[in-house]
Amino acid sequence: MRICLTGGAGYIGSHILVGLLEDGHDVLVVDNFANSSPTCLQHIRQLTGKSFEFLEEDICNQPAISAAFSTFRPDIVIHCAGLKAVGESQKQPLRYYRTNVEGSINLLEAMDQAGCQRIIFSSSATVYGTPRYLPYDEAHPVAPANVYGRTKAMIEDIITDWVATDPGRSAALLRYFNPVGAHESGEIGEDPKGIPNNLVPYIADVATGMRAELSVFGNDYETRDGTGVRDYIHITDLADGHIAAMAYLGDHQGVEVFNLGTGEGSSVLEVVAAFRRASNQPVPYEIKPRRDGDIAEFFANPAKANDRLGWQATRTLDAMCADVWRWRSKYPRGFDV
Ligand code: NAD
Ligand code: UD1
Repeated sequence: MRICLTGGAGYIGSHILVGLLEDGHDVLVVDNFANSSPTCLQHIRQLTGKSFEFLEEDICNQPAISAAFSTFRPDIVIHCAGLKAVGESQKQPLRYYRTNVEGSINLLEAMDQAGCQRIIFSSSATVYGTPRYLPYDEAHPVAPANVYGRTKAMIEDIITDWVATDPGRSAALLRYFNPVGAHESGEIGEDPKGIPNNLVPYIADVATGMRAELSVFGNDYETRDGTGVRDYIHITDLADGHIAAMAYLGDHQGVEVFNLGTGEGSSVLEVVAAFRRASNQPVPYEIKPRRDGDIAEFFANPAKANDRLGWQATRTLDAMCADVWRWRSKYPRGFDV
């Protein structure tokens, strides 16, 4: 198939790209390196021994995206490009709405012009907001509590409206839980700029000695050990979910929402313990006050994706930590060293 992958140099997109190339697809990656590095794409070429097309471009540049689509003529778009930092989204809402929402509209217009009728969209469990019940299933109300989450919910609605105008169209809206881990080769992985916001990259920084200790944000939640609980999913399982969704869209019309998670929650202290086991390194931590806006716990009900996509997350938390450790041991400072 001919696949346009936006954000293919980023954390999630790069792992999807490896899967697509291994399956023999023709891929056009569109990325402007706003939060990634060209070195990632070099690693992927070496790792897979495959080539792909690449356009360094902002998805907000509609004429450039349309021109690329009319030449490449994708059968399907996997749309991962976007901005994803919750705190930043509260401070720069217009930038987030422009990149995420306007960028997605541009893509849909370019798809219209090129006759492309299928899209897979990187959404987030953030769209559910405060849990009314757990685990979240896809019928849980959508009530995002921050700008980032609202951009995701808006894009889901826009894609749904776009699909409704033509019976030949189809879309999978994939709500990711907490992707962690790295490719088992250790050649690609998460490479956040500056101080990591997310737990596992921060722990990895501590284990490699780049940061002194982890701050554990709160140990007084109503969870089994008082620390926050999340549904961590191995990045390769997440990437496989996209391959499964692509197959699904091949013979289904309309829009479907799927949770991509394991269905299991792990606490902050459980993740610390798993990382210590995987790395054989100390991970000192200190208990700090709760982080603003944090939820005590959330995890997925992934039954719909299991049943309809024939997909299931299989990799354990220990495997996630071992793969991060391999990646960070090979490339302690990420791609640009
Ligand atoms: P990432 O920042 O590593 O990757 C996003 C990629 O998009 C980067 O390579 C970046 O350079 C590119 N990009 C950003 N703005 C662009 C623009 N205007 N034009 C072209 N390219 C642009 O993030 P990620 O973790 O790989 O996330 C991918 C997608 O999945 C995002 O849409 C994110 O919101 C969503 N998501 C991520 C998580 C997570 O925990 N990582 C969870 C849920 C959803
Ligand atoms: C964050 C984002 C969410 C995004 C998700 C996955 C916020 C408010 N939400 O959520 O939108 O979808 O990442 O990328 O930013 N923790 C610590 N110390 C740290 C970092 C985190 O104790 O240094 C704790 C947190 O309090 C939480 C857990 O670890 O309990 C996981 O945190 P994180 O990795 O940031 O993910 P989310 O909070 O789920």
